Amino acid sequence: MSTLQSLAGRHIVVGLSGGIACFKSAELVRELTREGATVQVVMTEAATQFITPVTMQALSGRPVALSQWDAREPNNMAHINLGRGADAIVVAPASADFIAQLAQGRASELLALLCLARPRTGEHACPLLLAPAMNREMWSHPATQRNTTQVVADGAVLLGPAAGEQACGEVGDGRMLEPEELRDELIACFQPKVLAGRKVLVTAGPTFESIDPVRGITNHSSGKMGFAIARAAQEAGAQVTLVAGPVHLATPRHVQRIDVRSAQQMHDAVLPRAAAHDVFIATAAVADWRPAAEAGQKIKKDGSGQPPWLALTENPDILAAVARLPDRPYCVGFAAESEDVARHAREKLTRKNVPLVVGNLGPATFGRDDNKLLLVDADGERELATADKLTLARELVREIAQRLHRHGAEQP
Ligand code: CTP
Repeated sequence: MSTLQSLAGRHIVVGLSGGIACFKSAELVRELTREGATVQVVMTEAATQFITPVTMQALSGRPVALSQWDAREPNNMAHINLGRGADAIVVAPASADFIAQLAQGRASELLALLCLARPRTGEHACPLLLAPAMNREMWSHPATQRNTTQVVADGAVLLGPAAGEQACGEVGDGRMLEPEELRDELIACFQPKVLAGRKVLVTAGPTFESIDPVRGITNHSSGKMGFAIARAAQEAGAQVTLVAGPVHLATPRHVQRIDVRSAQQMHDAVLPRAAAHDVFIATAAVADWRPAAEAGQKIKKDGSGQPPWLALTENPDILAAVARLPDRPYCVGFAAESEDVARHAREKLTRKNVPLVVGNLGPATFGRDDNKLLLVDADGERELATADKLTLARELVREIAQRLHRHGAEQP
């Protein structure tokens, strides 16, 4: 199946002002086009000292806009034409001087002129995102801080900067975000903020139950669905905490991650936090049992040919425990089944006393990038057709937001 293109149909203006970080902008353009966007590059004169318009034209597939005096524009109004067709303008890198120009509303070059002339309100409002990149002293200078505060107050969105090693060899705040991070920020900017102001707690991945220091019981859950849900909830405006079992996945941006190993650790991480959240989504494939006692040393063969006898004890049911809390969040369970998803999902809805259970065929989906979900609640069933996990996660987040809204309305 084709990979998800989260920016399909979007037209993005990528502006470059002068700075070493211009080399990262080339990769940013590639990332945005890979996600399906069309990209129009606009460069200041200073930016052309760092990377050539030829490179940027080749990567974006369009001539780079460099001057407000370009007579090829039929109406000679490049600053209006470029802004009107754009879904967003992202200036990366945004230099100290460029931010100063914006703060003062100056428009001596095409890029600043374009930012000033962009529609800020109404149906065609075009968000302006700025990715500052400069030396740490320049970034922390009161003038830059003042200007940045002003441009944010005027409606720009600040992306970063990050802290780290700088081109000059110094270490500190002022590094431009990486192209993949900027791409994800831009993708998030287009997602509807259906969970704005909400706090969401997610469990994800398998758990690992130790038998001895080198062995354990676990399962094939990759954590991908839970991580996609955490990302989708964050993109939708929620503050997200992700309690993750042992998985090899990158933490979605702005998500607070707590790593655990065993079901008991997951339980202990979730329970004290749950009531402070509006939504709890239990995607983790929690091991149902753990060895009754963990051997302190590696268990050795005793030569008898008889395998050791392993006593198991049941793990706490995290979802059911959260659902029993007096001030419980809106609880969403997952049911990974090997057959008859609808029946098992409905049975879990009742047994765990939760308002929504999401069923899927476990063995068919573990580790894969796509999935198919069945939403089961008191009103009936609804299928979310096979798609990649991020698309499904976004749909599920919308479904949860609608139910949360209704749920809130039903509360006394
Ligand atoms: N769950 C949990 N804690 C457990 C077991 C399950 O929080 N100890 C949660 C899962 O994260 C999932 C839901 O409960 O959201 C259903 O998990 P599943 O393993 O399918 O159900 P079980 O209750 O274990 O039932 P069974 O194994 O009999 O299918």
